Amino acid sequence: MSLRDCKIVSLPKISDPRGNLTFIEGGIHIPFDIRRVYYLYDVPEGAERGAHGHRNLQQLIVAMSGSFDVVLDDGMERKTFHMNRASYGLYISPMMWRDITNVSSGAVCMVLASELYDEQDYFRDYSQFIAATDRA
Ligand code: TYD
Repeated sequence: MSLRDCKIVSLPKISDPRGNLTFIEGGIHIPFDIRRVYYLYDVPEGAERGAHGHRNLQQLIVAMSGSFDVVLDDGMERKTFHMNRASYGLYISPMMWRDITNVSSGAVCMVLASELYDEQDYFRDYSQFIAATDRA
């Protein structure tokens, strides 16, 4: 998997005078069935999240409120995505190291995930992640 597989996805947005409605359907707007949803919130100023990779997990990250940066690294190159709209998601393929930084006050980061939580799927050590890519 390379950074080219990771993309900003423009989600459907239904707007009327009462506000906006966005929906996400597994297998339709994103290339996986959604097995888990979690969200980060009440992140203290300066705190950094992420700092791990996953062997198999696919995810879509959405800034439901506020803003943050997601830095993706496939072992070859690194790219920063600034997330600040609830109608856009960042698709993250397997074998991608991610850091979440610059989280604004009040930000809510929602993550749709292709698998249930499994600590065995994580790389928590960057050098082990790099060794597992074929780019070591
Ligand atoms: P982690 O994935 O490291 O968080 P982040 O990427 O947002 O910084 O998870 C933080 C802690 O929460 C860790 O102890 C594992 C636990 N956790 C669960 O129990 N279930 C989950 O679905 C997730 C994502 C994390």
